[in-house]
Amino acid sequence: MSLDRSLKIAPSILAADFADFGAECRRLAKAGADWVHVDVMDGHFVPAISFGAQTARAIRPHVAGVMDVHLMVAPVDPWIPGFVEAGADIITVHGEAGPHVHRTLQAIRAAGCKAGLAINPGTGLDQLSWLLESVDLVCVMSVNPGFGGQAFIPAMLDKIGAIRALIGDRAIHLEVDGGVTADNAGAIRAAGADALVAGSAVFKGGPAAYAANIAAIRAAAG
Ligand code: DX5
Ligand code: ZN
Repeated sequence: MSLDRSLKIAPSILAADFADFGAECRRLAKAGADWVHVDVMDGHFVPAISFGAQTARAIRPHVAGVMDVHLMVAPVDPWIPGFVEAGADIITVHGEAGPHVHRTLQAIRAAGCKAGLAINPGTGLDQLSWLLESVDLVCVMSVNPGFGGQAFIPAMLDKIGAIRALIGDRAIHLEVDGGVTADNAGAIRAAGADALVAGSAVFKGGPAAYAANIAAIRAAAG
């Protein structure tokens, strides 16, 4: 994975057909997706349960580009090796999920993956300012994690801008996750994001619409 500031669209398979993940990932590649975003929910850190490392391993051969794993899991450390073995390129964890996030990020990098830090809407940036040398990606949660299909929280635009300034010229991706649509992608991109996660906005209308949905987000982001 090379770092560049060009726009990456990362469809979240949380909005895909759970009975057909392999085909869905192949469709996403054909439809122009850059990354595939894999949302792992544990029923503890967040209310819902989605799937685990076995599912990530099963879909890996069907993902054409970067497999971007978002762990909404606490405690998270015991699960890192499973997602490394599953073939994740990026593993993102929440600073809110435990007291030793620095150690977790180190473990992800030591295993050869890119390390991401996700930040909930109500969380400030103090922790991040001490982790800038330890992360390859910052994921701004623009909804409260746990469900797809929620509305983007507008106040997060200022947070994206603040993180963009904090990152400076460091090789760190700035990802935005939650409620991203063609209507707000321009403002999100302008605030400084380079990776846009989108679930509902990509999968709405079924497979025949994926390419147009991705193109609409890309065009809006500019
Ligand atoms: C929220 C997840 C998101 C979400 C995105 O807990 O981390 O990735 O599924 O879905 P939409 O785009 O529908 O908000
Ligand atoms: Zn996510």
